[in-house]
Amino acid sequence: MFGDVYAGRRVFVTGHTGFKGSWLTQWLLDLGADVTGYALAPPTEPSLFEAAGIGAAEAGRAKGAGRFTDLRADVRERHPLRQALEMAAPEIVFHLAAQTLVRRSHAEPHLTYQTNVMGTVNLLEEVRALAASGRGPRAVVNVTSDKCYENLETGHAYVEGDPLGGFDPYSSSKGCSELVTAAYRRSFFGEPGMPRVATARAGNVLGGGDWGEDRILPDCVRALSAGVPIEVRNPGAVRPWQHVLESLSGYLSLGANLWRRAAAVGHEEGAFDGAWNFGPGAECNVTVREVVELFVTAWGGGEWQPAPEAAEQPHEAGLLVLDAGKAERELGWRAAWSVAEAVAAAAHWYAGFYRGARPDALLTHCRADIAAYCDAAARSGAAWATAEVPT
Ligand SMILES: NC(=O)c1ccc[n+]([C@@H]2O[C@H](COP(=O)([O-])OP(=O)(O)OC[C@H]3O[C@@H](n4cnc5c(N)ncnc54)[C@H](O)[C@@H]3O)[C@@H](O)[C@H]2O)c1
Repeated sequence: MFGDVYAGRRVFVTGHTGFKGSWLTQWLLDLGADVTGYALAPPTEPSLFEAAGIGAAEAGRAKGAGRFTDLRADVRERHPLRQALEMAAPEIVFHLAAQTLVRRSHAEPHLTYQTNVMGTVNLLEEVRALAASGRGPRAVVNVTSDKCYENLETGHAYVEGDPLGGFDPYSSSKGCSELVTAAYRRSFFGEPGMPRVATARAGNVLGGGDWGEDRILPDCVRALSAGVPIEVRNPGAVRPWQHVLESLSGYLSLGANLWRRAAAVGHEEGAFDGAWNFGPGAECNVTVREVVELFVTAWGGGEWQPAPEAAEQPHEAGLLVLDAGKAERELGWRAAWSVAEAVAAAAHWYAGFYRGARPDALLTHCRADIAAYCDAAARSGAAWATAEVPT
């Protein structure tokens, strides 16, 4: 998979204790990468990172799996970031660390911009310094969000060249992170010896081990595991739904292509630098109600009811659709799981947790989900999951 780029590769992941970062770290370890994670503590209790003991099962490491270094530090501080990058000397970087909650961004806009914008500046600045010393990475993938676009709520499917914006501080901070990355690419990363830098835009994802606030599946498991009806806000709202492994396969494809291209032809303007959308197909745009009902069925029963009108709600954007045509054409990436498959995989993972499964069993479950997803991607013809990886 991924043209074997990750086997034995030194990879630096910021935000590795978060929901996406935990899945990404495990997938990279299984691919044989040596992963250094850099993040604050897991943002939720419980968390996937703790529940499945991501990276901790050194004794039970799968054959061929890579090594893991777990660093806890802040992307708002340059000095520890510099030390960590110097120590890890990564060949590929994935930047996921962020303040990720829209509601919290209303309460703490300064912290949100410091983390999401200055955190990106700090990372790119330290990568630039490391590259100038000849020990820098070849590829950097900055994970932003579909919320980086100026959402005009017209139903238009956004392509990478559409204007950036963002209504609330979180969304706008992700637009800013995009602009920062583009400026660094144009101003500094065109030089020989500098890395190729891309940004990845995906929408909200679901999967086992997410306990984030204001996300529908965590709301479902909290209610069902407590034996109370799920309170559903906006049951009729249509949203694009995607399993977390879909967006991660996009990030990993992008990282592998950036790295291989730089290795093959040295530094040149063009291919794989820039912005990439990783969105689900139109058949994955379904209502919140449909997803809740799929979840209840996969869980084995339960009730839901519309949430009472809250007095004050932050602005909630209408349907935002990504056009992932560029990733399909140029990376051979495509979404592989239906909404029903994605929700069922998540429900089974959570059911294991709430039945008291131990960390090693939950980790095995993560690995089984990754393997099942890879099979589905190979059947769908995704280039990274077949033998015919373009070079
Ligand atoms: N989950 C989604 O649906 C979704 C959708 C689109 C984009 N994203 C983006 O993907 C990335 C990961 O999202 P997630 O859902 O895993 O988020 P998460 O909230 O679960 O995890 C965030 C991670 O960032 C770390 N972090 C936060 N502030 C930090 C700081 N100051 N210094 C160092 N680390 C810090 C946390 O410790 C954690 O590891 C984020 O950049 C997010 O904006 C997520």
